[in-house]
Amino acid sequence: MQHIHTYIQEHKDRFINELLELLKIPSISADSAYEKDVIKTADVIKKSLEAAGCDAVEICLTPGYPIVYGEKIVDPSLPTVLVYGHYDVQPPDPIDLWDSPPFEPVIKKTEIHPEGAIFARGSCDDKGQMYMHVKALELMTETDQLPCNVKFMIEGEEEVGSKSLSWFVENNQEKLANDVILISDTGMIAKDVPSITTGLRGLSYVEVEVTGPNRDLHSGLYGGAVANPINVLTKMIASLHDENNHITIPGFYDKVENLSDSEREQMAKAPFSLEAYKKALDINAVYGEKGYSTNERNSIRPTLDVNGIWGGYTGEGAKTVIASKAYAKISMRLVPNQDWEEITTLFKNHFESIAPDGVTIKVTPHHGGQGYVTPIDSLGYQAASSAYQDSFGKTPIPQRSGGSIPIVSLFEKELKSKTILMGFGLDSDAIHSPNEHFGVWNYLKGIETIPLFYKYFTELSKNK
Ligand code: BES
Ligand code: MN
Ligand code: MN
Repeated sequence: MQHIHTYIQEHKDRFINELLELLKIPSISADSAYEKDVIKTADVIKKSLEAAGCDAVEICLTPGYPIVYGEKIVDPSLPTVLVYGHYDVQPPDPIDLWDSPPFEPVIKKTEIHPEGAIFARGSCDDKGQMYMHVKALELMTETDQLPCNVKFMIEGEEEVGSKSLSWFVENNQEKLANDVILISDTGMIAKDVPSITTGLRGLSYVEVEVTGPNRDLHSGLYGGAVANPINVLTKMIASLHDENNHITIPGFYDKVENLSDSEREQMAKAPFSLEAYKKALDINAVYGEKGYSTNERNSIRPTLDVNGIWGGYTGEGAKTVIASKAYAKISMRLVPNQDWEEITTLFKNHFESIAPDGVTIKVTPHHGGQGYVTPIDSLGYQAASSAYQDSFGKTPIPQRSGGSIPIVSLFEKELKSKTILMGFGLDSDAIHSPNEHFGVWNYLKGIETIPLFYKYFTELSKNK
């Protein structure tokens, strides 16, 4: 489609500059100090949707951060695509490890992105990927080729569990009615290996607290005679995996869907270099559950990881002390059929049961969500596949991702439609890490591929 290329060529500098402006606002949903910035970002998104051609754009207030909703209804008899994305970002810490300030975007060339990549928190996750959809809408309305109806729903709490969005979706089924949900908030295998995400993992996130003596104690006077909460906590955590790296919580694997041999063979065909993987992370060996490949370990298998652990003295020098309390934050990535609330209960019961005498345990669930898998024979998948075929010149590979977007399973339950995950990020883009970036090439390729999805989805829907 020549006019797609022409429009992008003519407007790409502006497309990039608008994204840079958006990235300057620190919309960190986890930190209440940034509340004003999060709300301001919603306003900017609203204006951008209006400018791109949405007819009705609203800021929908919620008990948490607002949801920006916009739509362009061309003809009610045509199919409707619902676009979802998020305008909130992860905290940038540790700030010292950024080469340039996280909210002062700069474009730099990298080995993988010789055309340049935009370095800023949220550049890939998800402001950059969400904004591709806004610019794709602009392209379609300006060049008179929007073939169907479109609705946008952009939230500001994805990075903290999408609580308000769950409430919004449950209460607005009619408003959000659609034929397919389209999301760019995942990745692809490589720039020359396009892929469509067909699965997401579920999540159960908990915090644990171990309490020993009622106050911090001198480690000479009391050491060896009372349970040390940090010793106990680390021992308990270590026991959660066995020597094969299987998780030891009773019942944890009961509902895990086991893939057939042929499905596993299919997965193993995706291009992957273990050497390159290790090199990119500066590790001399991979590590994980016995009997599974690296790609299986990080997508179709459930996991348990400590995300943070603290307690006692961590300041400069040495302080001889036995802390009264020790803490850890633990995430469990789940696979389809595992229910996150059930897993949270299994974890809590098990963790309490393995505590030795002399300490008390508190387990606090944070948030969670179910996993998701989507078939590759749906209209949406086929439309996406044709779109990539046109823009990349290659058939995309279906790929299950290890990350989570918990709201997706709720979309299917409440709105009864399939979600297509067209992600354009790369694993090396460092989302959630210092120096997050998003390739300019990827950004523009997304803007090119999205209108093709609309075109094919509308065509396939008509022929159904
Ligand atoms: N966009 C990510 C999820 C993602 C990234 C999925 C790459 C697949 C590939 C999303 O913003 C995210 O970070 N999700 C969180 C869960 C959420 C409940 C905080 C995650 O996966 O840790
Ligand atoms: Mn995201
Ligand atoms: Mn994220």
